Amino acid sequence: MPIIAPSLLAANFLRLEDECRMINESKADWLHLDVMDGRFVPNISFGLPVIQQIRKATDKVCDVHLMIEEPERYAEAFKKAGADRLIVHLEACRHLHRNIQQIKSLGMKAVVALNPHSPADLLCDVLQDLDGVLVMSVNPGFGGQEFIPHTFQKIRNLRRMIHDRGLDTLIEIDGGVTLENAASLVKSGADVLVAGNTVFSSPDPKATIYALKYVD
Ligand code: DX5
Ligand code: ZN
Repeated sequence: MPIIAPSLLAANFLRLEDECRMINESKADWLHLDVMDGRFVPNISFGLPVIQQIRKATDKVCDVHLMIEEPERYAEAFKKAGADRLIVHLEACRHLHRNIQQIKSLGMKAVVALNPHSPADLLCDVLQDLDGVLVMSVNPGFGGQEFIPHTFQKIRNLRRMIHDRGLDTLIEIDGGVTLENAASLVKSGADVLVAGNTVFSSPDPKATIYALKYVD
């Protein structure tokens, strides 16, 4: 069964407490929180004060996706705000190895995200240090975009690398995840499905989370 991580980016921001309650009562395992700085990606979302409040409203694992430049400047602040897993982009880190060690030394799980153009092989020399790899299946910055089919090949490549080296690194998929492609994603080797619009634009978000969890 996949780990389900609804992405709050698609929630109703006027009713965040209700949205958190819905997540708490659902089969969701994690809550995915997208932070955008308007530089690494062409959009700005929410940041530390919002995550601090969300932390008080849920016991679910907070999976914080930093789509920001120089994420090392903010790792400690996101730990303090309540992040359990911190995701940084390969493309935003000049010293990725150092950044991964920093996240782990702060007591968080370290996850690296790959943009659609970045091959899995680029993680070859740090894979053993990672708790997870987040495969972007759309270009980061916006919810509600169409899934990029080449993602399937990247998941299979990563799955093979992880298996061959006897690691337990989790593969997360983020962007354009739907009830239609969820089963194939899991079959290809995905462990974690991040879903924004599929969950929050659904007439019954809890039922949709359930359907993603028990997909086959
Ligand atoms: C996009 C974000 C995603 C986004 C996914 O840059 O990283 O987490 O919320 O949204 P959907 O599931 O609607 O594609
Ligand atoms: Zn995300």
